[in-house]
Parts: sequence; C-alpha cells; structure tokens
Amino acid sequence: MKTLRFLGHACFLLSDGKTSIIFDPFLTGNPSAAAEAAAIDCQYVMPSHCHGDHFGDAVAIAKRTGATVVSTAEVAGSCGSQGCQAHAMHLGGKHAFDFGYVRLTLAFHGSGVPGGHACGFVVNLGGTTVYHAGDTGLFGDMALIGRLEKIDYALLPIGDNYTMGPVDAVEAVALLKPRFVVPMHYNTWPLIAQDPQAFKKDVEQRLGVPVLVMEPGETVTLE
Ligand code: NI
Ligand code: MN
Repeated sequence: MKTLRFLGHACFLLSDGKTSIIFDPFLTGNPSAAAEAAAIDCQYVMPSHCHGDHFGDAVAIAKRTGATVVSTAEVAGSCGSQGCQAHAMHLGGKHAFDFGYVRLTLAFHGSGVPGGHACGFVVNLGGTTVYHAGDTGLFGDMALIGRLEKIDYALLPIGDNYTMGPVDAVEAVALLKPRFVVPMHYNTWPLIAQDPQAFKKDVEQRLGVPVLVMEPGETVTLE
C-alpha cells in the first residue's frame, strides 16, 4: 500500500511501507507542521531548494536516520559537507534507485544556495508517479514533463506571491495532465492565503481532474 501524508506547507511523506521519502522537510518553525522532525523515519530526504520553508530540518533528519539527501548538486553538496549521505543530481537528469526512479525537473525560483537552481521532483515509487513541483512559477515546459511522465499525483503550489497562484496552477494542471492534483504552499502565513476549495472547483470544472485538498496530518492511500 502506498501512502502520501501531508505534513504542512510543502512537506509530504511518500511511502510504500518499505521506502519512505520526505519532500521539503520544513517542520521546526512551520506553523502548519503536523509532525516533529525528531519523529520522522525515512530513507530519502528530497529538498527542492535551500529556502528555509523547504530545506528546514533536512540535515537533522538525514543525519539522525541515515537517509540519503537527493537534490541538485549544490544542495546535495552542502548536505554532504554537513555530514549527510547525499546523492547529487541536476535538472533534467533521471536516476534509478532501489525504489524506482527520480527525475529532477526545472523549477523557476531561486535556489537559496550560491550558484544553485531550485528543482522539482518526479518520483516513481514502485510504479506510482508523484510530481512535487517545489516552489515555481508557471512555465510552458510543464507540458514536456507531462509528456515524458505519466503523472499520477501532481503536488502544486497555489499560494501566489512567491510561486504560482491558483489561476496559474490551473494552467499547470492543463499542461501536466496528472490523474490527481494536491495543492500545497498556501495558508501557512497570511501572505499566501488562498481558498483551496475554489481552486478545486476550478480544476474539476474546467479540466475534470480530481483535486485532493489535504489537511496537515492527513494521509491518502494512493490509487
Ligand atoms: Ni522558495
Ligand atoms: Mn517556499
């Protein structure tokens, strides 16, 4: 059984019971955190970039659990130099892991580390494909990601100001053509306040793609 647990903001725990992957593990100081960093058990940590609201507890979790950090070379390198196991990749690259594969995607956003890039992740966990977009604006090449990968679940920011807002995120769904959409990166602070139910209605009415609005702490079983 594969599960996706939303831990608040852009943090998700993806698991098949054997392998657990945490994306953007910002828990300490996250007003919507649904878990403590010390309680996380995982084999992989995937920070999309080094801004604090994504990188968060990455090093602490990786060092305590022995999990491997997978990210761009600059972010993975920084984690490696802090004593973590790290696997460096870069934009457009794909790599097979014991659980499936990872493709690092573009993300139009700052990296938070000198010389770096922000990224998104397409993770294939035992045949189920999850796209965590990280922080990004809308870009037309999302259509290529949707053409190259049969995305089951697209985790997309809708908060606006720092990333796509809900109107642009509807366009992203049209380009990515996922089976399901999960909105993220909203309502953590007043500056990114959004109505996820309005986004859900827009996507479902215009595109017919079901939107799962997850509460922090909620787990869904993946189909
Ligand atoms: Ni950011
Ligand atoms: Mn962010």
